[in-house]
Amino acid sequence: MLDCSLLLKTGEQILKKNGILTSRLDSEVLLSSIAGKDRLELVSKENLKVSNEQALDYQQMIERRKKKEPIAYIIKRKEFFNLPFFVNSYSLIPRPETELLVEGILRMYKNKKLNILDVGTGSGCMILSLLKSMPNARGVGLEISKNAIKIAKINAKKILKDRIFKVKFAHNSIQNFCSKKHFDVIISNPPYIPTYEIKNLSDDVKNFEPKLALDGGKDGLDVIKKVIYKSRYILKSQGLLALEIGNGQYFKVSQILKNNFFRTKYLIKDFKNNIRCILSELNF
Ligand SMILES: C[S@@+](CC[C@H](N)C(=O)[O-])C[C@H]1O[C@@H](n2cnc3c(N)ncnc32)[C@H](O)[C@@H]1O
Repeated sequence: MLDCSLLLKTGEQILKKNGILTSRLDSEVLLSSIAGKDRLELVSKENLKVSNEQALDYQQMIERRKKKEPIAYIIKRKEFFNLPFFVNSYSLIPRPETELLVEGILRMYKNKKLNILDVGTGSGCMILSLLKSMPNARGVGLEISKNAIKIAKINAKKILKDRIFKVKFAHNSIQNFCSKKHFDVIISNPPYIPTYEIKNLSDDVKNFEPKLALDGGKDGLDVIKKVIYKSRYILKSQGLLALEIGNGQYFKVSQILKNNFFRTKYLIKDFKNNIRCILSELNF
């Protein structure tokens, strides 16, 4: 048996030496996932011990984190909208900005009977959080990556349980997706980072998160444009398109929306006061 406080100290030192700024927090999160304890319990209880096998697993996790692998991929879990999502390197790690979009939709439609399409569903975090809180809605998660769909299906079972029939997943790209004018709401957090900016992202992101989830082409707008063009034909008239966009993309995206018969209804700003979500209504 090995002492947790000693393991935390050595883990923290290794991470610190390797330039991880959150070295203490990270070692606590990793060890608490191994020990199956709450982080607060882990740091507040004296003489807590783990088995030699657990200590070895922890050391392996510290080695992975040392190379800047995101904590969420190491522990295979990320909280989103207070729900525990399974994640691995085939899906983007759900971000807090995306929770703002989910919150916005819930505020507008909580008890409505709706058909929702989530374009680029990844881990399924957006559609599943919505369906969890919307008893009368059903939805489709569309995704180009087969591996990401596997993750979304795992999460659907975990989050929706006996209401899993409320969601379906489709393996396709938005440009090839065929449907009638069927959806009341389309949500999407598409890849929106311009290709030339990917090299400037932090190591955690550019070396570990899927390029397919990040790369939005030359100006970052490739997939956003495809989502807007297709939404025009598969969204019901007066339906809502809710898009997460990158910092500084508002002007260009709102112009594309306008040219495609969308009228802006709400804007959502992030914690730094940047416009990050556009909710617009189709008048077509
Ligand atoms: C930024 S991630 C968002 C994932 C998830 N919705 C979230 O918010 O965490 C974008 C997702 O879109 C998918 N994707 C990229 N191009 C696509 C396309 N043309 N059609 C459908 N999905 C696409 C990627 O595989 C990725 O999972």
